[in-house]
Amino acid sequence: MDLSNHKYKREAWNSRLGFIMAASGSAVGLGNIWKFPYIVGQNGGGAFVLVYIFCTLAVGLPIMLSEFTIGRKTKLNPVGAFQALKPNSHWVKVGYMGVLAGFLILSFYGVVGGWTLAYVIKALTHTMTTFSSSNEAGEFFGTFISNTWEVLFYQALFMGICVGIVLRGVQGGIEKACKVLMPILVVILVILMFRALTLPGAIDGVEFYLKPDFSKIGPQTILIALGQAFFSLSLGMGCMLTYGSYLSDQENLASATVYVVIFDTMIALLVGMVIFPAVFAMGLEPTEGPSLVFSVLPAVFFDMPFGNVVSIIFFTLLAIAAITSGISLLEVVVAYFIDQRKWSREKAVLITSAVIFAFGVPSSLSFGILSDVKLFGMTFFDHVDNIASNYLLPLGGMLTAIFIGWIWGTKNAEEEIKKNKTNPHWINIWRFLICYISPVAVFFVFCAKFI
Ligand code: PHE
Repeated sequence: MDLSNHKYKREAWNSRLGFIMAASGSAVGLGNIWKFPYIVGQNGGGAFVLVYIFCTLAVGLPIMLSEFTIGRKTKLNPVGAFQALKPNSHWVKVGYMGVLAGFLILSFYGVVGGWTLAYVIKALTHTMTTFSSSNEAGEFFGTFISNTWEVLFYQALFMGICVGIVLRGVQGGIEKACKVLMPILVVILVILMFRALTLPGAIDGVEFYLKPDFSKIGPQTILIALGQAFFSLSLGMGCMLTYGSYLSDQENLASATVYVVIFDTMIALLVGMVIFPAVFAMGLEPTEGPSLVFSVLPAVFFDMPFGNVVSIIFFTLLAIAAITSGISLLEVVVAYFIDQRKWSREKAVLITSAVIFAFGVPSSLSFGILSDVKLFGMTFFDHVDNIASNYLLPLGGMLTAIFIGWIWGTKNAEEEIKKNKTNPHWINIWRFLICYISPVAVFFVFCAKFI
């Protein structure tokens, strides 16, 4: 069966570099810059970082290669892909789960993405220049996120930017945007790192970040690290599968995977090298939690020389990272409607983004007028984040590993991977990881969650 023989011409990446930039753009996001530092801060620093790197290499990398492989083989969205490889089976549900996860994640991702845009604008207009302590910065943040119309405006603006890019298609929109934005992101990060590391007292932050304290590692740490690896690498919901589906047979899947994984991990590690030195140099606490980036950093910035400039470029970095991930989330949902429902790109983008925005409204208001509306002690935002990030992604990742390892079979997958020269030793290691390590690791994490 020639799976790539569709009736219409499917879009494709223009170049290998464009694909790697787009996939890295998807991976590098709020997960790296907003979540990673506070999770490291709360889980004991260096030791957590080591566990995280291990999870990324042993579980994340093999699953990413699997997603790229399924995508390129079928040249379809997640639903169509599982349908094509195992017709009329329950496996198609893994594809549906992915599209649902994309929908859910973007609904709350758009909220935080909106905050990043707001902070760029607030920094540009000098609205945040008077903090003398992180408490004040925290209060400022609290007032901002509880302001109904303001947060909704910025959430809409964020979605609007994603729509503007995804409407232009894979090559003209996503690839072009990522090829411009990702290099800017790297440059900004390097400038910030230089600024942070040259602050007096920065070395304490470096020590906290890099010196492992193994007494801090327990089952809970591994669980959090694995979940973070999935989220950060955009795995378990068909995002990398969808991006792989626009890839030509000439490109080497294995090496592309390695590039994207290294890129994503390097960015997360570098972000830590900005945030911890800065936080420690200013005598603040790294254990603040989710508000670390929004309420501790502004205070840090305004204490340092050139603080306002630093703050403008930091929040620009955050916004760029969020946008290049947001478009990948939208593309998964859009690709489903284009391939499976035969919608035009315009119709798919406009309708799905409007529905996603509407569903995200209660998440946006979870920090304001809906903050007291709680189920099991969690707000709407918390629930959507929890269901998608802690359940759908790991479950999707585990099922993808089982599918490749045991259902569609590594033989078929290898045939696809070997279309481009790949070192046979690496393939052997990948086969072992995807058959045994990835599914078992995620399974244990799930068990641990329920006990
Ligand atoms: N990887 C993105 C981040 O780190 C989030 C994301 C998850 C994007 C799943 C796409 C799919 O922020």
